[in-house]
Amino acid sequence: MFLIEKINEDNRQRVIDVLKVDVIRHVFAIYDIQYEPEHTTMYAAFDNGSLKGYALVYTALEFPSVVIECEIDVAEKLIEYAPKSHFTMHAPPHLLPIISKRFPDAKYYVEKWMLVKKGEASLFKSKLVRRLRTNDDASKLALLLSSRENRPKRTVKKYVELIGKQAIYGVFVNDKLVSYAGSFIQLPQFWMIGGVYTHTKHRNKGYATFATSAVTEESLKKGKAAALFVRSDNYSAIKVYEKIGYKMIREKLWIDVRTGTNP
Ligand SMILES: CC(C)(COP(=O)(O)OP(=O)(O)OC[C@H]1O[C@@H](n2cnc3c(N)ncnc32)[C@H](O)[C@@H]1OP(=O)(O)O)[C@@H](O)C(=O)NCCC(=O)NCCS
Repeated sequence: MFLIEKINEDNRQRVIDVLKVDVIRHVFAIYDIQYEPEHTTMYAAFDNGSLKGYALVYTALEFPSVVIECEIDVAEKLIEYAPKSHFTMHAPPHLLPIISKRFPDAKYYVEKWMLVKKGEASLFKSKLVRRLRTNDDASKLALLLSSRENRPKRTVKKYVELIGKQAIYGVFVNDKLVSYAGSFIQLPQFWMIGGVYTHTKHRNKGYATFATSAVTEESLKKGKAAALFVRSDNYSAIKVYEKIGYKMIREKLWIDVRTGTNP
């Protein structure tokens, strides 16, 4: 028999201590309940005090984002904490039968989680790369991303906030930002790299490799590793990450429940 508890200040540290055994697998949970509690609701299943899994809903993005990690026997109950309408979800592959039964209209994509450790990266350097810092850099990032299909449009103010909070490196050609890579989670142990993008007219010139190398380098100076996830059929992105030394550590599913978005 298991019990489900809502995570709050009383039980939070107990759960974090268990999840820290595998920081990368549980990165969203560890980060969100510590650093973004106002946007995070988490339920955990315990059996005689031992953690059997959790479901987390993070609400600071355009759509609610659900993370579920659990043993199969508690999945049906935990999945009931997902929003009723539309959301995206990260889940381990063994939960797919339960997720598809509960949300028959869900679309799912396999994502590779990849990791590079300190001392194992091949960093590609270029004078075209620098960190984004100013309001002008934020405007350039907004302009670059306005060319990206199927992504929510954000204001320049949002990008000013973003470059203040995250380490984002860009490739500049003739003073135009043509490619960038950032880190959206920074934990003392490692950083999560994400938002890697090159303008369609500037692809296959090594720019994403330069930008991802720069943010990976900073990550490996501050922690012991850098990690990221990428859709398993995104061959050019996987090529970039493998060149730098990232290796696959596991697969997870990225699930779209009625948002119409994809990873
Ligand atoms: C993935 C992406 C960032 C790569 O940007 P880029 O600036 O073209 O990357 P680079 O030039 O540094 O490297 C691309 C590599 O992929 C290779 N490549 C291109 N198409 C490929 C394909 N279909 N299969 C395998 N490799 C491919 C290129 O040959 C190059 O490798 P090489 O330098 O060894 O020749 C870019 O395609 C993009 O913005 N895609 C949309 C957003 C996205 O998918 N981001 C990644 C999210 S995880």
